[in-house]
Amino acid sequence: MTARIQPSILSADFANFERDFKSISEADGIHVDVMDGHFVPNMTFGLPMVKRMQEISSRPLDIHLMIDNPDHWGPLYAALGVFSVTFHLEACDNPLATAKAIKESGARAGVAIKPGTSVNEIAGIIENFDQILVMSVEPGFGGQSFINGSLERITAVRSLISAKSPDTWLQVDGGIDLGNIAQVARAGADTFVAGSSVFGASDRNQRIRELRDLASEKLSH
Ligand code: DX5
Ligand code: ZN
Repeated sequence: MTARIQPSILSADFANFERDFKSISEADGIHVDVMDGHFVPNMTFGLPMVKRMQEISSRPLDIHLMIDNPDHWGPLYAALGVFSVTFHLEACDNPLATAKAIKESGARAGVAIKPGTSVNEIAGIIENFDQILVMSVEPGFGGQSFINGSLERITAVRSLISAKSPDTWLQVDGGIDLGNIAQVARAGADTFVAGSSVFGASDRNQRIRELRDLASEKLSH
């Protein structure tokens, strides 16, 4: 299998999304960080901007909701025609109903856990999701360092997925770069978000290829 690389547009130029989307044309998907200033101490954009991104993007959009009340908002993002919508377990009242509503609105459903949330919290619901997102930084900002304890968490989630829901993707987000992506792949991730590493490169498509090659060699399954 080949690793999937999804650049995070949190590191893009917010006045030039169309230009920056074109600069990552070889990405497997584009990771879109939606923040509300409540669930995380930062704010980005909402439905109208993601709607325009969906209209101009040639690559599938992977929406990462760092917002309160994803039960309400998740299906509305899914209805824009995006590829996937991932919400935070910590913010959700009814994860199973929200996953179902996202899927019924036409997108893949994902659930995310922050670094301080126990992996056990998702053990009983994993098979209801197309994607599990293990955060390897505290959500809210790009350019942070990968938290090393995340590797054990990734390995634990991979075990759960292998046992219960082998088709579910394991995505990791935060501080992924050329120096650690191989280790993260070996721990069990198959889908990698990279913001500053991709957007800081002079040739972004080349950086995507480098990251993908390093990860693909080490995929653990
Ligand atoms: C952080 C976001 C990430 C972030 C990743 O809250 O969810 O998607 O943009 O950026 P880097 O790769 O720079 O850590
Ligand atoms: Zn993200």
